[in-house]
Amino acid sequence: MAKPFRIGMIGYGFMGKAHSNAYRRVGNFFDLDFDVQLKAICARTAENAQEFADTWGYESVETDWRKLLERDDIDAVDICVPNNLHKEIALAAADAGKIILCEKPLAMNTAEGEEMCQAVERAGIANMVWYNYRRVPAVTFAKKLIDAGKLGKIFHYRANFLQDWTISEELPQGGNALWRLDVAAAGSGVTGDLLAHCIDTALWLNGGITDVNAMTETFVKERMHNLTGKVEPVGIDDACTFMCHFKNASLGLFESTRYARGHKALYTLEINGEHASLKWDLHDLHRLDLFDHQDDGTVRGWRSIHVTDGEHPYMDRWWVPGLQIGYEHTFVHQVADFLQDYAAGNPTTPSFRDALETQKVCDAVLSSAQSRQWTDVQ
Ligand SMILES: NC(=O)c1ccc[n+]([C@@H]2O[C@H](COP(=O)([O-])OP(=O)(O)OC[C@H]3O[C@@H](n4cnc5c(N)ncnc54)[C@H](O)[C@@H]3O)[C@@H](O)[C@H]2O)c1
Repeated sequence: MAKPFRIGMIGYGFMGKAHSNAYRRVGNFFDLDFDVQLKAICARTAENAQEFADTWGYESVETDWRKLLERDDIDAVDICVPNNLHKEIALAAADAGKIILCEKPLAMNTAEGEEMCQAVERAGIANMVWYNYRRVPAVTFAKKLIDAGKLGKIFHYRANFLQDWTISEELPQGGNALWRLDVAAAGSGVTGDLLAHCIDTALWLNGGITDVNAMTETFVKERMHNLTGKVEPVGIDDACTFMCHFKNASLGLFESTRYARGHKALYTLEINGEHASLKWDLHDLHRLDLFDHQDDGTVRGWRSIHVTDGEHPYMDRWWVPGLQIGYEHTFVHQVADFLQDYAAGNPTTPSFRDALETQKVCDAVLSSAQSRQWTDVQ
């Protein structure tokens, strides 16, 4: 008989929906020792919380996250709120002995992240950060190919995350939906929001980063602030480009911006090794491109692998070969992995400690951009 795994979620925006969908689906597609139960959703207004609870099937609502943490009928707290609230909630949740599933980036900066790591480690509670792109089957498959030595020695790692939604100077900053433009709520701009994803995937696929050299730009210097009603300076980075060295001696090149007209969520990565290269593109997320130099020279060329076969990661759980899955499934995979690991008494990656490594790279990137110097990752 499956044991209950009772979720209390804080925040009901974009990620609130993505995670709720995952909790509802995971038991239908994966064999689990746990029965995931949507116990409570916490929002600041009861009306909004109730509407969300009715849509997604949460049993109850809370309007103060502290109340949620006091409840005995909650096993795990899911933190789906802006970045400036992660630490306070995580520290209190660790004190309350709750399992913590926290959205990325882990924290506003490394110092906060370190405190959060120490809190969960002291409390001995299971924890995880939602860097979901690791669980795109094509990306997980790339990891398998790299670990199996298919690429040989790696020379280059390149990643971009390009968007275009903040070009208008009329766009305000702050408050609901636009907290990402407010440095006090987000901590940073594209570095913590978008590059953090690219960095997490890179650390997973290619190992640690030793030092970085970065430039950032804030193209729109002032915006109306939704919370103060005044025009305020913009403190986030609108764009960031950095190069880096990896511990394995390969070179990295990363770019992110919200000013690349025409691009909505163009997360691409390319890895060039001695024997083979890999390419992946979020807009076509079920494909992995591979160039294998060990192929016969007459037919050698880039091949596009449709990562939908039963032998590909996670795909035996879904439809039949050839039928693809999408963005939302990455969250289902992450919950499934977490619950399977938790049942076996194993940690799930990325843990808080793993996600702290990404935070350290983000901090080094921002610091390098400011000092205009090569900067070591802590
Ligand atoms: N893994 C990913 O791919 C991914 C994608 C988007 C966002 N994120 C991360 O998820 C987090 C949330 O982002 P989002 O896009 O869902 O934002 P969002 O603006 O869509 O939702 C944020 C939610 O937090 C709620 N909230 C704010 N303050 C609160 C408080 N004091 N108590 C309770 N609720 C409160 C808001 O009402 C809203 O429901 C951020 O840390 C973000 O970086 C991760």
